[in-house]
Amino acid sequence: MLSVVPTPITVRVPAKVNLHLSVGDARPDGYHELVTVFQALSLTDEVTVQTADEPGIEVHGEGADSVPTGPSNLAWTAVRLLAEHSGRDPEEPGVRLSIRKGIPVAGGMAGGSADAAAALLALNTLWRLEIGRDELSDIAAKIGSDVPFSLQGGTALGTGRGERLVPVLARHTFHWVIALDRRGLETPGVYGELDRLRGDTGPHGVGEVEPLLEALASGDPRQLALLLGNDLQSAAVSLRPNLRRTLRAGVEAGALAGIVSGSGPTCAFLCTDNDAAVRVAAELSGAGVCRTVRVAQGPVPGARIVSDERAD
Ligand code: C5P
Repeated sequence: MLSVVPTPITVRVPAKVNLHLSVGDARPDGYHELVTVFQALSLTDEVTVQTADEPGIEVHGEGADSVPTGPSNLAWTAVRLLAEHSGRDPEEPGVRLSIRKGIPVAGGMAGGSADAAAALLALNTLWRLEIGRDELSDIAAKIGSDVPFSLQGGTALGTGRGERLVPVLARHTFHWVIALDRRGLETPGVYGELDRLRGDTGPHGVGEVEPLLEALASGDPRQLALLLGNDLQSAAVSLRPNLRRTLRAGVEAGALAGIVSGSGPTCAFLCTDNDAAVRVAAELSGAGVCRTVRVAQGPVPGARIVSDERAD
């Protein structure tokens, strides 16, 4: 039998967009009750973990400069939690993480959550913990509301604070154009702005989602476009009034509909097909309303190992 060689493990993990996000009132724990439909998109990060005497994180790719490399990085929270879970010293976990960013940083597309999900899956393999998907999802929820979805991918209905998931049938592939803003937005500030805008109106229930689920099952982007909605959009636009122009420009460029993704400021535009998405992306990038533009498809799988070259 060959000895175990601790070679690097790399996990690819997708961004998400919320096709529907209805936000209820703040709970005593400070989180808001949600009903949301997530879709995983083909903008991805890659996280590589390897055994190392010098623990730490390095970050490469677009926006890498604004990603923390210390304990506030959610991927490092994942390392610490899994170390504790498996009886290792969380202060000396003996691993290094390398993160390659393809998901917009602080963009409302769960980039930080994605890296945490990827770190969980990679370490589960590197340390041979054999923790099942359900238990890994419970650990993921302790890190952040979006982390379980980053593990699961596809299209899913999320309730609670977004961490309780049921997979949803989505026929065909949907084609998206993603417009990145010049600066990020912090999620707590956007929820706070929604509370401020709502004032003491309420209570706020969570909206109906069945028509959107039917549109997903039919696979018809025109039907889906009519039903996209995000309660956080008004708050994100209030904090970044320029997003109004971006949303308008995407529809003028030929998208079926545009929404702010999650807490923003990234905007996501649904298009009829890939050719339309390429045309909308080209026109939008010439309109000068955003920093950069990407074309993406969804749904795609959740976090998965793309290299596992250990000899065993
Ligand atoms: O769970 P996560 O760490 O991603 O949440 C970041 C912040 O977003 C929370 O601290 C909270 O302010 C806000 N949030 C919320 N209700 C949710 C999810 C997030 O108020 N359901």
